[in-house]
Amino acid sequence: MENMTNPDVIIPRHLGIIMDGNGRWAQARGLPRSAGHQAGVQSARRIIEACAGLGIQVLTLYAFSTENWSRPEAEVDYIMSLVEQYAIDELPELQRNGIRFQLMGRREGLPNPILNALDRMIAQTCDNSRLIFNLAFNYGGRSEIADAIKTILTAADQDGFDASDLDENTIARYLYCSDCPDVDLIIRTSGEWRLSNFLLWRASNAVFITTPVYWPDFQQEHLLTAIRRYTQFISMQDAVS
Ligand code: FPP
Repeated sequence: MENMTNPDVIIPRHLGIIMDGNGRWAQARGLPRSAGHQAGVQSARRIIEACAGLGIQVLTLYAFSTENWSRPEAEVDYIMSLVEQYAIDELPELQRNGIRFQLMGRREGLPNPILNALDRMIAQTCDNSRLIFNLAFNYGGRSEIADAIKTILTAADQDGFDASDLDENTIARYLYCSDCPDVDLIIRTSGEWRLSNFLLWRASNAVFITTPVYWPDFQQEHLLTAIRRYTQFISMQDAVS
């Protein structure tokens, strides 16, 4: 597989992926949507390992947005159970691969058994440094910014904080997973072109690439194609600036 030593490829430091198309993948096969989500988890496993192999430092996968609560209850419950099971099953694999897991999203609203499973994975992988894997779960870009401002205002009440000291760096310090850098490349599968409230603050300078492939079919080769397109784009930009 290509890696950072290939001088022709620019590896994004932080890659974000909007995993889309699980439902359509299942529908195309006459399967229930749940089968698409199950296949989506397998796809996530492959891509997390591929990212670690490529030398990407941070990967953020968009698994459940604050808007996704409006889906049918049975589907929401199924996604919750899949993520809980993932957190239980995947810990040894993350450890073996040196991957640090983080939850990027609002804890409020998430059922306790899931939070417990996720917290265990966060605690036990916190010393790993080969790849940071953020699961954007119960995540919304606007909620993230609103939550950051809420925390800043609460701190201001307690410690006294001059509004004139508030700048972009202050807000960035209070985002979820605040040690993660801006996102360089966002890939969205299944041919959609929307950002859908993903990483709004950190995406200010990101390259956006969409691919018609449904998420369960997304393979290393599709990731490499996206990274090559990203490389071309960055190289073109560097040439004119
Ligand atoms: C996208 O397809 C799927 C989701 C937004 C939620 C489910 C994601 C997973 C199950 C992967 C979880 C990954 C890990 C690592 C636990 P969609 O339902 O929006 O598909 P559609 O647009 O075709 O209906």
